[in-house]
Amino acid sequence: MMEEKIREIREEIEAKIDSFDSSKALYEFRKTFLDNKEGKIAQLMKGMKDVPKEDRPAFGKVVNEIKEWAIARFDETDAKMKKLELEKRNAAEAVDVTMPAVTTKVGTLHPDTLIVNELIEIFAGMGFEVFEGNEIENDYYNFTALNTPEDHPARDMQDTFYVSKDFLLRTQTSAGQIHVMENKKPPIKILSPGKVFRSDDDATHSPMFSQMEGLVVDKGITLCDLKGMLDTFSAQIFGEGVVTRLRPSYFPFTEPSVEVDVSCFQCGGKGCKLCKGTGWIEVLGAGVVNRHVLENCGIDPDEYSGFAFGMGVERIAMLKYGINNIKTLFESDTRFAEQFKN
Ligand code: PHE
Repeated sequence: MMEEKIREIREEIEAKIDSFDSSKALYEFRKTFLDNKEGKIAQLMKGMKDVPKEDRPAFGKVVNEIKEWAIARFDETDAKMKKLELEKRNAAEAVDVTMPAVTTKVGTLHPDTLIVNELIEIFAGMGFEVFEGNEIENDYYNFTALNTPEDHPARDMQDTFYVSKDFLLRTQTSAGQIHVMENKKPPIKILSPGKVFRSDDDATHSPMFSQMEGLVVDKGITLCDLKGMLDTFSAQIFGEGVVTRLRPSYFPFTEPSVEVDVSCFQCGGKGCKLCKGTGWIEVLGAGVVNRHVLENCGIDPDEYSGFAFGMGVERIAMLKYGINNIKTLFESDTRFAEQFKN
C-alpha cells in the first residue's frame, strides 16, 4: 500500500516536472507535493497513526526518503530553469554595440533669424537698444501719427490688411517709432525688429515679411549722422570696403527722405548680375524724422531732431545668401534650412 503511494507520487512528479515553462509554474507544482501541511508528502505522514508502533520508524524513513528525493529533484530542476530564464532575459536585453547610432536631427536658425541677430549685434555695438512693437496696430500708429493722414496718397504705397474698422496688421515697423517717442524723452536710440504685413505677393514680396527699424532722436542729429552710421553698418554686414550712396526719395514721416544703396559687394562696383550692372544695390529707406512726427509725440522739433531707417530683413538675407525667391524662406523645407548650418 505504502510503496504503491510512494511510487505514484514519484511517477506523478517525473511525468510533469520537465514540462513547465516558468520557475513560477514549477514552484506551484512543487507546493502540491512539498507544502508542509497540504502537500501530498505531508499527507502521507498523517498515515503514521494507523501504523503499528514497531513499524513506525521504517514508515518514517520511507516518507523522509521520498521527501528528500522530491526536494532534490525540484531544486535541481528549478536551478536549471532559472539558468534558462536568465539566458533568455540576457538575450532579449542584449545590446548590439556594432549597430549604427540613432542620430538626432539638430535644427538650424532661420536665415531671417541669422540676419536679425547679426543686425542686432552690429547696432548694439553702436549703442542701440531693442524695442519690440506690436503686430496689430491701429490706424493712428501705423499711419496718422507718421504724418500719413487718411486720403494721403502715400497710403497706397502699402496695401493694408485690416482686422477691423480700427485695427490693422502693421505695414511697417515705423509704427513702433511713435510708441517709443510717446513713452521716452530723447536721447532715443532704438532698433526695432518685427514682422510686417502687406497685400503683396511675388518673387521678391511676401504678404508677411520682416523689417528692422532704427530711430535716433537727440539734439543736433543730421543726415550726416545717418550716412556715417550707415557706412559703418554696411561694411560690417556686407564686408570691408562697402560704402553707401543716398538717393532722394519720399516717405511722409521723414524729410528729407532717402533711398540707400550699398556698393555691390560681389563685383566691388564694376557691375555684375547681382547689381544688374549698376554697381549699386538698394537696401533700405531712411531719412530725417519729419518735424510733424516729433510734434505728434510731444517732442519739440526746434530742440530735437532725429533720423530713422527701415530695411527688409528678407531682402538682406536674399542678397547675402544668394536666394532668388522670397518664398523659399517660408516653405519650411529642411533641405533649404540645412544649408544655413554653421
Ligand atoms: N517704413 C518704410 C517702409 O516700410 C521704411 C522707412 C523707415 C523709411 C524709416 C524711412 C524711415 O517702406
